[in-house]
Amino acid sequence: MTGNTYHRAPETIGKAPSGCPMDRQWSPLDPDYLADPYPIASALRDEHPIFYAEQLGHVVVTKMDDIETIFMNPDIYASTNVQDPIFPLAPEAAAVLGADDFDPIAVMSNRPEPDHARIRVYTRQGFSNRRLKTLEEYMRERAGVLLDHMIEAGSPAEYIRALAFPLPAEIVFRFIGFPPEDDAMIKSWCVNRKAFSWGKPTAAEQIEIANGMLDYWRYCRAFVAERRDVRADDFCSELLDAHDADPDPANGTGISYREVESVVYGISFAGHDPVTALLCNTLLCLLPRRDQWNALCADPSLAAAAVDETLRFESSQVSWRRITTRPTNLGGIDLPAGTRILLNFAAANHQADVFEAPETFDIHRANANHHISFGKGIHFCLGSGLARMEARIALELLSERLPSLRLVEGQSFEYFPNITFRGPDVLHLEWDQQ
Ligand code: HEM
Repeated sequence: MTGNTYHRAPETIGKAPSGCPMDRQWSPLDPDYLADPYPIASALRDEHPIFYAEQLGHVVVTKMDDIETIFMNPDIYASTNVQDPIFPLAPEAAAVLGADDFDPIAVMSNRPEPDHARIRVYTRQGFSNRRLKTLEEYMRERAGVLLDHMIEAGSPAEYIRALAFPLPAEIVFRFIGFPPEDDAMIKSWCVNRKAFSWGKPTAAEQIEIANGMLDYWRYCRAFVAERRDVRADDFCSELLDAHDADPDPANGTGISYREVESVVYGISFAGHDPVTALLCNTLLCLLPRRDQWNALCADPSLAAAAVDETLRFESSQVSWRRITTRPTNLGGIDLPAGTRILLNFAAANHQADVFEAPETFDIHRANANHHISFGKGIHFCLGSGLARMEARIALELLSERLPSLRLVEGQSFEYFPNITFRGPDVLHLEWDQQ
């Protein structure tokens, strides 16, 4: 594996830095933490803002200012580990990914400078206002069609199947340029990436996921090759145009062909899974609080604020990772080079000296968008505008068409066991039939 390999499994779990407070028990994969991370994250933060979690082999950083320091100093805190499995891989899964043609390279979230900045010049152009504007019309139309089907089928409905899963996937796949007839196949490949890089799958699950990743990478390569010959009005074609204009990064500009393939591979997961969860989390926050939901129904222009308050209060991404490139000191704790760090967004987004009354969900909160759920600094989420737009449009349509919408009573929510992404596995909704 080269230094820029997209996923690098660790050989061992990380060690405790000497002098760092230690927690031997807690793991973000614990069932009670998965069910509701916020009280536990806040208690951990208040006890030791920085501590080593033995079950995870990571130093956990919980306070907003420390997390921001880390994001703003990428030369000390590299992002090269953000797509890696947390734990060592089973040899059989490693063998699947050892196939000669499984060679995606780090391009965006996990690529260090200066290459990351070089590549981001081209990827940022893909998220231009012009493309977002075109996508907004398509998004509203598709969301409307999916909602029509949900309403026609009648109350109650399972929201993920009806809208929260298909909508973000369709949007990002059309954005990239993948043909609609491949949607179901691509979605099935992307689903288990969450377990691979952020969970603790069994050896058998790892092998299945690794095979899916290999198939998906081969699909991405074949798709880019097709676009190389015949361009369309999509993100992949734009990247290939940029490649044609400046194909050799050796001079410090340009984007290589393998980098184009790898951007396509990476963005398809980043672009839909956390958005599905965000669409659900907005409703989990709003529907039980009828005053907030009614305020939104009365004034749909509150939808954007409701989305940001959800990203603070009940984010679809509750952590991210970094690794130190050299010895450093954070908050009085010495961290050797190679220290793996878990940035605990759940704790920071509920910090009382940053957000007044942090346990109150309030769509009128003035500083809700100071949440850290999209990161900060050079790797700040490229799709934040797209994600916010999708969640806002879904809320606008639902509040307009189904003001009586509510959660089906008595359901309990299951969360897929992983350290980073958070949204319910199923979400049952009901409404008064017109
Ligand atoms: C609610 C939905 C989303 C959340 C919570 C989220 C969160 C994040 C976070 C925390 C980062 C890392 C920031 C850092 O390291 O400083 C990130 C990076 C990124 N996200 Fe998102 N994201 C979401 C949706 C999207 C969408 C829809 C796309 C694309 C279609 C996308 C594409 C990316 C890319 C390409 C990066 C890497 C940027 C870089 O390294 O320069 N994300 N996102």
